[in-house]
Amino acid sequence: MEDQIFIFDTTLRDGEQVPGCQLNTVEKIEVAKALETLGVDVIEAGFPVSSPGDFQSIIEISKAVTQPTICALTRALKNDIEVAAESLKFAKKPRIHTGIGTSWFHITHKLNSNQEEIITRAVEAVKYAKKFVHDVEFFAEDAGRTENEYLARVIEAVVKAGATVLNIPDTTGYCLPEEYGAKIKFLKENVKGIHKAVISTHCHNDLGLATANTIIGVMNGARQVEVTLNGIGERAGNTSLEEIAMIMKSHSDFPFKTGIKFKKIYATSRLVSTLMRMPVQANKAIVGRNAFAHSSGIHQDGVLKKRENYEIIDPTDIGIKESSIILTARSGRAALKHRFEILGYSFSKEKLNEIYHKFLTLADKKKDIKDDDLRILAGTATIEEKHIKLDLLQVVCGKSVVPMATVRLKINDKIVSATASGNGPIDAAFSAVKQLINRKVHLEEFLIQAITRGSDDLGKVHVQIENRGKLYYGFSANTDIITASVEAFVDAISKCYDFTVNGMKNKNLNEIWK
Ligand code: KIV
Ligand code: ZN
Repeated sequence: MEDQIFIFDTTLRDGEQVPGCQLNTVEKIEVAKALETLGVDVIEAGFPVSSPGDFQSIIEISKAVTQPTICALTRALKNDIEVAAESLKFAKKPRIHTGIGTSWFHITHKLNSNQEEIITRAVEAVKYAKKFVHDVEFFAEDAGRTENEYLARVIEAVVKAGATVLNIPDTTGYCLPEEYGAKIKFLKENVKGIHKAVISTHCHNDLGLATANTIIGVMNGARQVEVTLNGIGERAGNTSLEEIAMIMKSHSDFPFKTGIKFKKIYATSRLVSTLMRMPVQANKAIVGRNAFAHSSGIHQDGVLKKRENYEIIDPTDIGIKESSIILTARSGRAALKHRFEILGYSFSKEKLNEIYHKFLTLADKKKDIKDDDLRILAGTATIEEKHIKLDLLQVVCGKSVVPMATVRLKINDKIVSATASGNGPIDAAFSAVKQLINRKVHLEEFLIQAITRGSDDLGKVHVQIENRGKLYYGFSANTDIITASVEAFVDAISKCYDFTVNGMKNKNLNEIWK
C-alpha cells in the first residue's frame, strides 16, 4: 500500500521572490491554474502582507482555483495573520502558513530574542491563526541548523496549539541527507502528539542536496513536500517538483505516490520558465533541453536499439514528444541512418558509408547538423530549396502607438509581404509572418537571452513552434532583438516546412507555398 505524499507548491511564493521572476496578477492566475491541472495539493500563493499586489493575487487565485488548498505565508505577527486571513476569504480550502526562526543564528542575530520567548511567540501565532482558519501550518525557520532537542520542544508546543502541518525547513540548504533524515525521525519519535499533524519538508539547494534531503525526509516520515517548478527559489533554489514526482514514479519499489499528472510536467515547466523569464538550464534533470538528448555515438546506437538502454524515463510520460538524437561529430552511422529515415531517405550500406564520411567532415566544422545539411549531404536537395529568409522587417512601436510590423519573406525566388498589428512589435511581426505561410503553427516557446550585459549586446532568441503535432526549433542572434526574434521564428518555420515537404522533394517550393 502506497502512502500519499502531498505536493505543496511554492513557485508563486519562494519561487517568485527571485529577482526578475516577479509576475503580475494575471500571470499568477495562469500559473496557479496550471498547477491545479498538474495536480498539486497545495498552492502557496504569496506573502500577502508584503505588498498590495501579493494580497490581491491571493484573492484572485482563491477565486480562480478550487481544487488545491490555497496557502498564504505570514511571520508570527498578529497583523500578518489578519492580512493573510483577509486575503484567503474566497478560498475554498484556506491555509495560513505562519512561523518563526528557531536556530541560534536566527534567535540571536535576527530576532534578538531567546529560546523560551520564541516558543511563546510560535504558540501565540498558531493560536491566533486558528481563530481564522482550521488549517494552520507552522514553519520553524532554519530548522536545518536548529538542535533537534530544542526543535522538538517548539514543534510539540505548536502541535498542542493546533498546528495541522509542521514545516521543517532547511532554510540555508546546509543539511546533509543523513542529518536531515535523522531530524525528521527524531521529531517523529520524540514529539508528543506529532501523529495529529503532517510533517513537511522544505529544502533549499545551496549545496545541491535539496532533492536528496526531501526524499530522505519522506523516507523518515514526512508526508508533505514543499517544492517549486524547475527548482526556482531563493539563491540556488528549492527542491524541484518534477524531480520529486519522477523519483516517486520511477522507483516502483518506493511505497509513495503523488497526485501529479505526469504528462503535464513539461508544459507547466515551460510556462513557468517563460512567464518568470527564467531559462531552465540545459542539463536540468527531467525538464532541461538536454534531459533526453543523446549525442555520443555509443549512446545513440543504444537508444535506437532500445530506448531503455540509456533512458530511465520515457520522455512522453512527462509530455515531451520524443527523445532527441543530436547529430554531432560524435554520432555514429546508426543515428545518421535513423535521422535519414525520419526525413524519408533510405540508402544502401555503401551509400550510407559514403555519406557518413562527408557528414563527419561537415560535423567537424559545424557544431550541430540540421536536417537541411543532411538533405544537402544526401544530394537530393539543392541549396536554393532551403531558402526561406527574412528579406525585410519594418516595425512601428513606442508609447501610445499601435505596434505594427511589415514583413517581407524571400521564399526561393518569390517575394511575399504582409503587414499586421499586435500587442507589441514582435507579436505584430509574428502575425505578419503567419499570414504569409499556409500552415498553422503554434508558438510553444520563446526565449530571449542577452549574451553579455550592455545595451549594445547581442540578443539570442530561441523559438519552438508546433506544426501537426511536431516541434521545430529556431534560433537567431542579432543586436536588434526584434529582428533576431523574427529570424528565429522564420528559422523554425523553414524547418517545419522542410519536414512537411518530405517525400515531395522534387516539387518546386513555390508550388507548395502557393
Ligand atoms: O526557507 C524557508 O525557511 C522558508 C520559510 C518562510 C518557510 O521559505
Ligand atoms: Zn524557503
